Amino acid sequence: MSEGVQTSPAFKTRVFSGIQPSGGLTLGNYLGALKRFADAQNQGIETIYCMVDMHAITVWQDPAALRRQTRELAAGFIASGVDPNRSILFNQSQVAEHAQLAWVFNCVARMGWMKRMTQFKDKAGKNAENASLGLFGYPALMAADILVYHATHVPVGEDQKQHLELTRDIATKFNHDYGVDFFPITEPVIEGTATRVMSLRDGSKKMSKSDPSDASRINMTDDAETIASKIRKARTDPDALPSEAKGLSERPEARNLVNIYAALSDQTVDEVLRDVGGRQFSEFKPMLADLAVAKLSPISSEMARLMQNPTEIDAILRKGADQARAIAAPILQQTYDIIGMVR
Ligand code: TYM
Repeated sequence: MSEGVQTSPAFKTRVFSGIQPSGGLTLGNYLGALKRFADAQNQGIETIYCMVDMHAITVWQDPAALRRQTRELAAGFIASGVDPNRSILFNQSQVAEHAQLAWVFNCVARMGWMKRMTQFKDKAGKNAENASLGLFGYPALMAADILVYHATHVPVGEDQKQHLELTRDIATKFNHDYGVDFFPITEPVIEGTATRVMSLRDGSKKMSKSDPSDASRINMTDDAETIASKIRKARTDPDALPSEAKGLSERPEARNLVNIYAALSDQTVDEVLRDVGGRQFSEFKPMLADLAVAKLSPISSEMARLMQNPTEIDAILRKGADQARAIAAPILQQTYDIIGMVR
């Protein structure tokens, strides 16, 4: 991961991250998460990736859709370069230790901490009384996902920052309450030019699978023509592109498209602007569309190919779950010993 990240020498570098199978994958998930998951794996770091189906049911999911989305998400991980022979890849519900540690963390986390979580407030909306208890406790399960592996680094998009701060608070309080140095203080890894990919229709809103407007996002399953047309119609301003990143500071829509271009082409924003500075969007948008199609089409066709064989996907997830459990079970058992559970 990034240089200069300090962790206690007692904990070996281990990456964990998760994605909810609660809908289709977007370009935001790909650039903010999946692409970076493959990068971490390719650096030779131990990597554990999880489809968090138990988080998904904090809001009601149609059972058939949940099954399909979980398999499609697994296909998305693999098509994006996460190799089940080099990373552990599985779905959360197959490793009961996540839920077991989450209960312990429910007893560590404080009501006041949970009430401050902006994602709960956003998701529960005006009718918080009617939200599920699971949605309220969501961040404690997330902390358990990470800490049941003693993971040291968690690559995520910017929207998960507050949840990862809570994970650190839970680890710190547990260690303090029991007088141990047992759980690592995990580092969020929020790096690169695409940690917050914005809606194509509104530069002040995050690109999201739950946005009612399909034109606001690029789905990983969109075909080439759809991708090109969404980029063509993306909201922009009338000015030409600047030649330096600081020229984008008051131009959220322009900044978003340049960020996407930079992330897809593995360049910095300044490198991109060195090439395209001075051009109009009428020229830049087709360049971006070509790049997006070139990068995303192979992924979506590989996803479609993998989806033809769901039993193979299920076998991969079962094997990943066995590997994950082999790490999680002893850590949960040590946790139980620390807190005084008899065995
Ligand atoms: P989820 O499923 O909403 O999103 C999965 C990952 O995609 C990132 N992401 C984005 N990044 C950039 N721009 C966007 N527009 C964008 N939209 C989504 C998210 O930041 C995330 O990294 N709570 C988590 C799932 C989770 C988890 C965990 C993550 C459960 N347990 C443990 C890390 C570690 C979530 O709902 O992500």
